[in-house]
Amino acid sequence: DSYKELDISELPPGEVLQTSWNGELIFVRRLTLTEVKDTNSLPDSTLLDKQSVTSLSDAGNSNILVCSAICTHLGCIPVPYLGAYKGWVCLCHGSVYDKFGRVRQGPAQNNLPYINNSVYGPVVCIEE
Ligand code: FES
Repeated sequence: DSYKELDISELPPGEVLQTSWNGELIFVRRLTLTEVKDTNSLPDSTLLDKQSVTSLSDAGNSNILVCSAICTHLGCIPVPYLGAYKGWVCLCHGSVYDKFGRVRQGPAQNNLPYINNSVYGPVVCIEE
């Protein structure tokens, strides 16, 4: 299989790109180091999906999040930058995701699934 490459060099820190990639609708989010740290410090108690592994290291080399753009409730496309966590809000029924795509308020019960970041090669952390 050959995967189509996606150039995200123009994606500014803190912003989200929604695109179709190899047949999947995805979000690419370039988090600032502060966003990674802030999101890591959110309480686990409000995570609805405790099964899937969804944390980014704030050690400095994993600030690019690539996840599905399909709400895990009934398949709408969540809108970035909204809600209490400024992650995503799905306007269809109100599910709220944080900046790592972790669902914090239902009706969705599952996080936005991650797409393999290794496809994009090494990423560089943005110092602020
Ligand atoms: Fe997203 Fe229902 S489809 S909340």
